[in-house]
Amino acid sequence: MTLERIRHSILAQKAGYWNNVPHAKYGRGYDIFAYLAYQAPGYIIQFHHIIKNLDRTGLLTDDVKVLDLGSGPGVVPLALIWFMKERKKGTLTIDALEQSEEFIEAFKYLVPRFASDSPVTVHQIQQADIRTWNIQKPSSYSMITCQNVLAELSGQSRSEKIEILMKYSSLLSDDGLFILVEPAELRHSTELRVLQRELEKAGLYVYGPCTYLHSGTCNPSECWSFAELPRMQPTKLMSMISDVQNGYRFMNTDIKFTYSILTKKLRKPVVPDAFIRGTIPLSNLDEYIGNMVTIVGAKMSMDIGNQEFAVYLICDGSGGARVYLIIPRSLHNEDIKSFRNADYGDIVKISNVRVRWNQKKGDINLIAGSRTHVSAMHK
Ligand SMILES: C[S@@+](CC[C@H](N)C(=O)[O-])C[C@H]1O[C@@H](n2cnc3c(N)ncnc32)[C@H](O)[C@@H]1O
Repeated sequence: MTLERIRHSILAQKAGYWNNVPHAKYGRGYDIFAYLAYQAPGYIIQFHHIIKNLDRTGLLTDDVKVLDLGSGPGVVPLALIWFMKERKKGTLTIDALEQSEEFIEAFKYLVPRFASDSPVTVHQIQQADIRTWNIQKPSSYSMITCQNVLAELSGQSRSEKIEILMKYSSLLSDDGLFILVEPAELRHSTELRVLQRELEKAGLYVYGPCTYLHSGTCNPSECWSFAELPRMQPTKLMSMISDVQNGYRFMNTDIKFTYSILTKKLRKPVVPDAFIRGTIPLSNLDEYIGNMVTIVGAKMSMDIGNQEFAVYLICDGSGGARVYLIIPRSLHNEDIKSFRNADYGDIVKISNVRVRWNQKKGDINLIAGSRTHVSAMHK
């Protein structure tokens, strides 16, 4: 009976998320169990991945003080505690805001227990509406996180969302990071890119995954780009819930997400001039149709190809048509391998690729061949 009620709540939650006007309610215990069973495991893994990658770039301070907006059952805190347990240095202090009482109860149960054998201090989670919460200065945070929350502010206009986010950004320390994460679904993903652009106009800087390597005008409303991780193993509870007819509806092991990391001060990854010099801006590729070129760009998708070709979205921030790198599956060499192994957002230089115009889609394809050379610069 319990499993059946959880299944029922999962279906209701999914219907709300996919609705024309996305909505969610987390008012009953079963809504929370459904979230923990179906949504939370992948979300914990994705945030853990984001933070581990940031640590690799040296951008994380040893001691981290976090404010998590719309914490739910403590998904971001759980991912951070997991990371701190592995990192074995520094301290982590967590503040969280959440409006649902039921989620707060789950948070209070889960987060302090998981943190108990780690260098993590969990301050009390506050019940608050992030839209109207009066910020309490002079607090200063080295990280502010907001994962899967903006999609739920469907009553707010874009400019209201910007206002809310800028209010919180004033709490960031000078070297602080503002991490926004949204579902990979087209609507939420492109909306995050548009918000990111507006936040830049309002004074923040984008650290990643977008990189402006050549000047031009990027068009975020046309940009659908998300990170993807290998499928996770289902949890025991997910397996139990899926053990029915049409059980695939309760199996959520795909991990795809859109994120944006913003800073108060300019903290771009350093790309040597020599890496960019002589490369053709992607927005100019229409003048090189049929030619071989050298370009630099960020790898903005994992493989979205078919049986014959691997296909990857590439972007240098200069705007223009969408550009894809097309690699025949029959092509195996160290250069191609280094490209495949590059992470989402990594910067790559690709030489000796032929430019083709994809008339049907209005995109530009860069066709890799045996003489194509790739060098990847991990962020
Ligand atoms: C999809 S859940 C995301 C939870 C968690 N951040 C995660 O990544 O799994 C959205 C959360 O935002 C909270 N939320 C939505 N609107 C809110 C608001 N105006 N103020 C505070 N919390 C809000 C919801 O209650 C819910 O916990």
